Formats: sequence, structure tokens, C-alpha cells
Amino acid sequence: MKGFTLTYAAILSTLLTCAIRANPIIQQVTDHPNNHLLGTATELKFTSFIQKHNKQYSTREEYLHRLGVFYKNIARAAEHQLLDPSAVHGVTPFSDLTEDEFESMYLGVKGGVGDVESNGLGMAPEMDVEGLPEDIDWRDKGAVTDVKMQGTCGSCWAFSTTGVVEGANFLATGQLRNLSEQQLVDCDHTCDPSEKDACDSGCSGGLMTNAYNYLMKAGGIQSEEDYPYTGKSGECMFDPKKIVAKVTNFTNIPADEDQMAAHLVKHGPLAVGLNAVFMQTYIGGVSCPLICSKKRVNHGVLIVGYGSKGFSILRLGNKPYWIIKNSWGRTWGEHGYYKLCRGSGMCGMNTMVSGFMTHK
Ligand SMILES: *[C@@H]1O[C@H](CO)[C@@H](O)[C@H](O)[C@H]1NC(C)=O
Ligand SMILES: *[C@@H]1O[C@H](CO)[C@@H](O)[C@H](O)[C@H]1NC(C)=O
Repeated sequence: MKGFTLTYAAILSTLLTCAIRANPIIQQVTDHPNNHLLGTATELKFTSFIQKHNKQYSTREEYLHRLGVFYKNIARAAEHQLLDPSAVHGVTPFSDLTEDEFESMYLGVKGGVGDVESNGLGMAPEMDVEGLPEDIDWRDKGAVTDVKMQGTCGSCWAFSTTGVVEGANFLATGQLRNLSEQQLVDCDHTCDPSEKDACDSGCSGGLMTNAYNYLMKAGGIQSEEDYPYTGKSGECMFDPKKIVAKVTNFTNIPADEDQMAAHLVKHGPLAVGLNAVFMQTYIGGVSCPLICSKKRVNHGVLIVGYGSKGFSILRLGNKPYWIIKNSWGRTWGEHGYYKLCRGSGMCGMNTMVSGFMTHK
């Protein structure tokens, strides 16, 4: 299959370029708005992108269409680079998708910022923020599973939720287990109590807070092994006898990033929603865009740590950042992770925060 794709891409461009040079009549027949990209440096980059990410395009039209999208995304990455100088932006596994396609395939937090006061969960009591460590990374403590891949399914909310429960389960039992996103995708259709049309709906999106309400009602969650991920919405196969982690209480966390840090240190990883616009082109570094709307929260992820001196913009000195686990596989970002600057509610990351409430 791989071999076929590569051969196809290589031969196709050669053939078309030859035909255009050799025969103007054929040029008319094969006219395509993106033909001008054939044989350019952009097409070379595109070919190595295809190879690296095992992309397959079934027709010549599709190949040319994707080449055009790729071209536009290179320009977008360059714009993002200017707006976000402390990160690196460029070609990512999603460079052949338009912004809209990307949003519908890989994001999936819906309902915008739900009403935190009435989503059925309480608000965490204020915590002491004195004496917090300079840095914390729950990965080093064994509380975070490997980066997973949601695939072309708007199920980020389910991955964000399992991440919180995996962390809480580790803190409670000392054991790390992969938990089942598919159970949430198939079985959880919970709606937000205050926004009746913000319902969890498999690959079409959802909210972590709805998923908590579902888990509390269902009694718990199965393991990934017992209920593996398929990347498609399907029939619910939940078996309560196979629950491996029970959850009793979740909580909203205040928008204050110091409170978030205190909660993270004490209770483990946090689920957050954010605006993912800069993530499609993100390669590495600390993302700290000059402009990033806080209103368009469309992606659910997991905060697993923070650092205090990660990066500097020009001469502004070292700035703190969050370490964020994503669910787009290890080939995206920093081995599947994203770093985002801390302290200014960047990209709305402090507007939809939740976590586990440990009992004494
Ligand atoms: C759940 O946590 C909230 C704080 O978010 C607290 O007010 C509530 O009493 C807890 N419920 C139970 C059953 O422990
Ligand atoms: C989670 O699943 C992945 C992929 O199957 C596996 O490599 C990893 O060891 C599992 N982690 C745990 C803690 O079981």
C-alpha cells in the first residue's frame, strides 16, 4: 500500500509535468488550478510529507487538491510563526487538511464554554498557592499513559476524560492503567444540565464534564484492553462487571492559573478545553501566540505538568508554561505534547478546567 502511494505520487507529477511541456492540448485537458505547483519545491515537500505520514490519495484530482491545501498550510504555518515566535510552526501530520476539515475531524469539544456553575459539578474549594514547586511533571511520576491517537473522530473530550481518570486512579492505587475512551464514545450521551443541546455524541464531539456525570452514573470505566478504541461511534458494549476504575466525584476548577497549578500538584492531571487554532501547525517549543481567541474553545486536552523557566520571547526573560498531553499520536508536536505559556489564560485554556476531587 505504502509503496503504491509513493509510486503514484512520484509518477503522477512526472507524467503531468511532462505532458504539460510536451503537449499544450493535453495541458488543457488536464487543466487544474493547482497544476502550477507541480514540479516546485512545494511539491517536493509534499512528496516527503506523503512518505512520512503514509498518506494515500486515490485520484489525481485528490492529489492536486491536497497539494493546493498543503501549499496554503505552509503559508499559514509561516503566519503562525510570526504570531507565535517562541514556538516552531511548520509541516505537521495535518498539513493536507483545510482548517475546517481539521476542526471537524480532530477537535470535538462542543457547546463552547458551558456554564460552570450549573454543569452538575461543584467548584473546587480555594487552595493555598504558597510553596508550590517550580516545576512538576506527572509523567516522571508514572501517572500518565502513552500518548494516544483519536484518529479522524471528534473524540478529544473522551481522551481528556480518560487522562484525568488515569491520573486519579494512579494517585489512588499506585497503578497506571489505560482506560477506555471507546466506552465513552459509544455509551455516553449525557447532556449538559444547563445547555440541553450540548450532549456527548461520540465522534461528533462532547464535553469532559458531561463524561464525568456519565461515569459517576455508570459506576466506572473499563480498561482499554477490554474495550479497545476503534475511532468510530458504535453500539454500547459496556459491561459493569469489567469496571477497573471507579470515580466518585469530579470538580470544576477556578479560571485562576495559580489555583489550577495548586490543584494539579495535589490531585493530578487536569482536563482543559482550549482554542486549538495554533495546534494544526505546531511542531515544538512553547506556544504563546500574540493573539489567540479565548472564545473559540474547541479542543479537549490534559494538563500533566508545568515548568517555570521554559522559554523567552526576545528579552522578556524566562516565562512559565504548561505541559499538555494531546491525543493526536506521537508524530504530532513534541512526541505528542504541546507546551503553552502560563499566566494569561492563553487560547482560553483556563475557561473550562476540571479534575478529580480526591477524598480524604
Ligand atoms: C464533590 O465535590 C464537590 C466540590 O467540587 C463538593 O462540593 C461535593 O460535596 C463533593 N460530593 C461528594 C459526594 O463528595
Ligand atoms: C497502554 O497502551 C499502550 C498501547 O497499547 C501500551 O504500549 C502501554 O504499555 C499501556 N500502558 C499501560 C500503563 O498499561
